[in-house]
Amino acid sequence: MKTYLVTGGAGFIGSNFVHYMLNKYSDIKIINVDLLTYAGNLENLKEVENNPNYRFVNADITNKDAIERIFAEEEIDFVVNFAAESHVDRSISDPEIFVKTNVIGTTNLLNIAKHNWLIGDDEFKEGKKFLHVSTDEVYGSLGETGFFTEDTPLDPHSPYSASKASSDLMAKAYHDTYKMPINITRCSNNYGPYQFPEKLIPLVINNCLNNTDIPVYGDGLNIRDWLYVEDHCKAIDMVINNGRLGEVYNIGGHNERTNIQIIKTIINYLNEKVNGNITEDLIKYVKDRKGHDRRYGIDPTKITNELGWEPETKFEDGIIKTIEWYLSNKEWMENITNETYQEYYNKTYNK
Ligand code: NAD
Ligand code: TYD
Repeated sequence: MKTYLVTGGAGFIGSNFVHYMLNKYSDIKIINVDLLTYAGNLENLKEVENNPNYRFVNADITNKDAIERIFAEEEIDFVVNFAAESHVDRSISDPEIFVKTNVIGTTNLLNIAKHNWLIGDDEFKEGKKFLHVSTDEVYGSLGETGFFTEDTPLDPHSPYSASKASSDLMAKAYHDTYKMPINITRCSNNYGPYQFPEKLIPLVINNCLNNTDIPVYGDGLNIRDWLYVEDHCKAIDMVINNGRLGEVYNIGGHNERTNIQIIKTIINYLNEKVNGNITEDLIKYVKDRKGHDRRYGIDPTKITNELGWEPETKFEDGIIKTIEWYLSNKEWMENITNETYQEYYNKTYNK
């Protein structure tokens, strides 16, 4: 029975990963360590909270004692590090917490895993691995052509992507210096259930349902490469099991869309499905994000050729599944868009 220490498992991708893994394997144990910041929500994990193979620990990844205690209590085989501050806009107004959680937190986890797994000079216990979940944003911004490969130089622009790149480099350093068994994955933009509505897709759905303006940054023509969250979870599972030690794997399914295309797709679906008052009149062009990356696009050749990963969900299907999930889970959205969220939203958009 393998034991996974999943950090940030109460957030968007982490909770989808916990569900994916517990549905797929009956012979694994998952310890979910999460600080439950604004982005962490135990409602995402209601269905697994009584599963005997699942345990939740409310702790900060920067806290040495708390993380050491988990390693003392459990024989951890894999660390899957999702825990992070993850929103670019928040990183622009408050960068320091991104350094604390993303860089210092990741380093703390690497260090404690190393102490527990090292059995000799450069020798680690058999079968251990630290998988650090990163993002394509560490590569910076693309022009109209070309894709990010694993060899693309790191060129992060936002405090968020700079903190992720820094944590990637710490994971790399633990491999290069101590021969620690690590992998780094760099995925493109995810969408799907349980995503906090500060991110584009759930924000647009939420605003449409509340008949609120949809803020479009700049000209709306920035491009993101969208991947359904379950396809990301599947890729992480494959990298844990078969990824070559020390390697980086890019994850993305060639699904590039401009922001305005995404917004119009959602409006048109909700207009037909929910309410004829949901129209493109809700679109409001606003001041551009500072340092706004123009285009992201992943070349997933390495993970496809080496591990046989391919995305299963086409964007056209995934976006409908996603919108339908939010329509069926209005209470989830109401609970998460509480007073604190409203304060954040008003501060960000109604200056
Ligand atoms: P999220 O913001 O939804 O969730 C982050 C989780 O981490 C939350 O549950 C939060 O409570 C927890 N957390 C924050 N600080 C913590 C701390 N100090 N200690 C313990 N837990 C803490 O983020 P997400 O969108 O699910 O992203 C997860 C990971 O995947 C991040 O590392 C992010 O950089 C990466 N990623 C995200 C995307 C995307 O499109 N969302 C794409 C590629 C990579
Ligand atoms: P976001 O979901 O924040 O992800 P990221 O910046 O990490 O890619 O934003 C996706 C794109 O949508 C990005 O180009 C910024 C844009 N955007 C808007 O135009 N309006 C919004 O309200 C938000 C949240 C994002």
